[in-house]
Amino acid sequence: MVKIFVTRNLPGEAIAKLKKKHTVQIYPKDKVIPRKKLLKGVKWCDVLLCLLTDKIDKEVIDANPNLKMISNYAVGFNNIDVKYATEKGIPITNTPGQAIVDAVAEHTFALMLAVSKRVVEADTFTRKKKYRGWSPTLLMGTELTGKTLGIIGLGRIGTGVAERAGHGLGMKVIYHDVRRDKKFEKKYKAQFVPLNKLLKNSDFITLHVPLLKSTRHLIGAKELKMMKKTSFLINTSRGPVVDEKALVSALKKRQIAGAGLDVYEFEPKLAPGLTRLQNVVLTPHIASATIEARSEMAWDAVNNILAVLSGKKAAKTVNPEVYKKNNK
Ligand code: DGY
Repeated sequence: MVKIFVTRNLPGEAIAKLKKKHTVQIYPKDKVIPRKKLLKGVKWCDVLLCLLTDKIDKEVIDANPNLKMISNYAVGFNNIDVKYATEKGIPITNTPGQAIVDAVAEHTFALMLAVSKRVVEADTFTRKKKYRGWSPTLLMGTELTGKTLGIIGLGRIGTGVAERAGHGLGMKVIYHDVRRDKKFEKKYKAQFVPLNKLLKNSDFITLHVPLLKSTRHLIGAKELKMMKKTSFLINTSRGPVVDEKALVSALKKRQIAGAGLDVYEFEPKLAPGLTRLQNVVLTPHIASATIEARSEMAWDAVNNILAVLSGKKAAKTVNPEVYKKNNK
């Protein structure tokens, strides 16, 4: 029997399937696993099932020279030293299923609508019994209809956002990515633009890039200055893509109209001053937290493991090059 270490309990029935065939140990507490326990679990197991909150660096990888694979319960895998794991011949898998695409694309709109229509402010206002009757100017917001949406990063989630924006809300879509996709442009009447043009022309900007060296602080003080005063920034990708301190300053000065954030540069910590701002809507990295997505992610994480253990290549392998030089 293969020994599988899971760093936190997952929703749904998928883990039960693993337990039927293998020895599964789960870190029992509902919190991020402490480093020591993570190292202990890795030493013990053949296969690691981990989360985006677990830093899988050289020390963790070296803790077990016989580690067969790392199954990450997330689409993003910036928590793992992929280069080192690949050198060590360890396959890494992730969970980019359709449900997570839908969940994150929907959450992007939840943030966009919440911040532009001032939903959170309005809710607080109403609960505080400040509503004294209808007024022509009370809590006025901005519409999405007819506005320009700038998508940075045209992966599956970025595409899911474009689909909903163009077909559902009548938004004009422009995008920027490291590569151009002419089929996408035709299908969604979208326009490829350089980053500076996107920053200058969008009413809403939404980020869907992975966290890489090249995307860290992709949006900083300089980029925020290029945005329209009336525009909104939405981030459901990874926190460090935005220079959060610079964003707080831009929001304070009303250099941009607002922001909707699900991820933070040093999460779970927030940049000083962020929570005091009215023109920002904050959610705690829950864009994929739907019953559908989180249980599909668990099935994907488990099926990835079962595929690798039965000698196949998992469908969702992050480092397929590992199979070229690898033997595991
Ligand atoms: C992911 O899967 O990378 C998401 O950020 C989880 O919400």
